[in-house]
Amino acid sequence: MSAAPTVTPTQREPQLLGQKVVVIGGSAGIGLETARHARAEGAEIILTARDPERLEHAAQELDAISTSAFDAGDPDSLARFFDDLPAPIDHLMLSGGGPYYAPLAELDLEQVRQDIDRHLLLPVQVARHAVGKVRPGGSLLFISGTGGRRRGVGLTFIGAVTAALPALVANLALEVAPIRVNVVAPGFVDTPLSAALLGDGLDDRRDELRATLPNGRVVGPADVAALAVHLMTNTALTGATYDVDGGQQLV
Ligand SMILES: NC(=O)c1ccc[n+]([C@@H]2O[C@H](COP(=O)([O-])OP(=O)(O)OC[C@H]3O[C@@H](n4cnc5c(N)ncnc54)[C@H](OP(=O)(O)O)[C@@H]3O)[C@@H](O)[C@H]2O)c1
Repeated sequence: MSAAPTVTPTQREPQLLGQKVVVIGGSAGIGLETARHARAEGAEIILTARDPERLEHAAQELDAISTSAFDAGDPDSLARFFDDLPAPIDHLMLSGGGPYYAPLAELDLEQVRQDIDRHLLLPVQVARHAVGKVRPGGSLLFISGTGGRRRGVGLTFIGAVTAALPALVANLALEVAPIRVNVVAPGFVDTPLSAALLGDGLDDRRDELRATLPNGRVVGPADVAALAVHLMTNTALTGATYDVDGGQQLV
């Protein structure tokens, strides 16, 4: 007598099997978690960040094929990184440092200039370097934030940069097509950056978010990473900004 038919669990192919994913700013937080998700989907990972020790630690965890320790804000180092990058790359995420907030009277113009470089010129440079390195149909992914859409004292500059990025990315998507270009816009994400910014206030902030966010929980790096991997794999998506903030901007 033949055995009773067994139910086969639904299985799917890893979505990034054999693909190469670069994460600039990939040794912590959103970048590292995106690299983890991409690795779990079969991707080979290339990581960069400034601190070589933390970078090496992340690279070992993910069995990264290569790493490069440099400041992405330095145009020459960025150019050298891309020169050395073996083509074809499938997807590239640019993560990095946090925003600059200050009330008008305290705005440090040098810091403002550096922040314009980091938030607007850096994505433009990355897009230029990506042509010829990222394959057609591959993707670039930048990070913005929904917090910068609020209006308030101290938010003048981050508000302007946040408003500019969707327009910049939509145009870049036309400029570098068929490479796709998108932005993820998180609210609060529970990362080392948030911990550093909030210090002793971190737990109170988490409690406040649990009590007030429409989704009822704190958004973590894995939430952003899942969206990032979707943006890498869904070839219908380009030129757009995707919010991932648990509804924070609504309350
Ligand atoms: N966390 C949030 O709530 C939140 C919300 C909205 C948007 N964002 C944005 O998301 C991005 C990532 O935030 P995160 O919370 O994941 O930060 P994070 O935990 O501090 O991680 C940042 C990563 O980028 C690297 N990095 C920072 N500056 C760099 C530079 N100049 N060149 C190369 N690598 C650099 C860091 O390593 P090294 O320090 O060793 O370089 C680290 O690997 C930031 O742009 C942030 O503004 C974050």
